[in-house]
Amino acid sequence: MAGSYQFGTQFTAHMVTATWSRAKGWGAPELTERRPIPLDPTAVGLHYGQSVFEGLKAHRQPDGHISIFRPHAHASRMRQSAARLAMPEPPVDLFVEALEMFVRADGDALPDDPSLSLYVRPLLIATESTLALRPADEFLFVVLGFVTKAFFTGGMNPVSVWVSPDFARAMPGGTGAAKYTGNYAPTFAAQTQAAENGCDQVVWLDAVERRWVEELGGMNLFFVHRDRITTPPLTGTLLPGVTRDCLLQLAPGLGYAVAEEPIAIDEWRAGCHDGSIVETLACGTAAIVTPIGAVKTASESWTVGDGTTGPVAKALYDALQAVQQGRAEDPFGWRYPV
Ligand code: COI
Repeated sequence: MAGSYQFGTQFTAHMVTATWSRAKGWGAPELTERRPIPLDPTAVGLHYGQSVFEGLKAHRQPDGHISIFRPHAHASRMRQSAARLAMPEPPVDLFVEALEMFVRADGDALPDDPSLSLYVRPLLIATESTLALRPADEFLFVVLGFVTKAFFTGGMNPVSVWVSPDFARAMPGGTGAAKYTGNYAPTFAAQTQAAENGCDQVVWLDAVERRWVEELGGMNLFFVHRDRITTPPLTGTLLPGVTRDCLLQLAPGLGYAVAEEPIAIDEWRAGCHDGSIVETLACGTAAIVTPIGAVKTASESWTVGDGTTGPVAKALYDALQAVQQGRAEDPFGWRYPV
């Protein structure tokens, strides 16, 4: 499969599906060619948004086989997301078996090129036909995927971020910690604002005080201070990123102290101005590790460090990719060979 490998565009040939119904529970996963799913126009998932998803990757290893990266962590996050949305939680074994079936079927689509990975997208959607306002009695679990380069076409080049003055992503007690499909479309208006202001992404502040820096919507954030690296704590309004967790575990081995600490937008600005914050980076399955070079608000803008890719972003990116691609030891047991 040749092509640009632009994120989310060139899907592979197959998909795996499994059904759930309140009466029968989970059915066995089934491999088919990728095709439209039967969905009544009154499906609960369409009207009331009862749907969650995951995003994970599989990587070709030096000996040619493919390893899925942290499938169990993604399974448990999908279960947490499903619980929040009053959906059936896919059993971990079913989730991992479906991933294995998909990767075995379509792994050949992944070229032997370390800049490419097989991005796997599990989706769980309410398919029951009813407009009654209650959790659905029927669901479909789907696993499909595509071969991709990095999410940002600039690769490891720094991106710029826009601090949205108008919109909020998540509120206390809401769904911000779930990988809920409905968390994503509401960000598009702010993303349009970001583009109009020459920025690549939106950075979200907390919804209550409009002060605490939370995440980028599709990515978590890390701040590199002179003496430590910090990432905002999981307050319930941030997605618990699997890549975030990887960096928290990898950083000490690279000689960096890490801490989960809140950071206010004013502290970020001041730290960049006085040099106490030397780098900021975004991380996620799709984005891997991407440096942030500049920040813009409605009233001002500032550069992070010298605006280029810093050594910590580079070291974390290299360390993570080395484990993912099988070029380093796997001390945490993250690789799942297929
Ligand atoms: C991911 O990093 O896998 C995500 O799901 C974020 C976004 C591309 C939807």
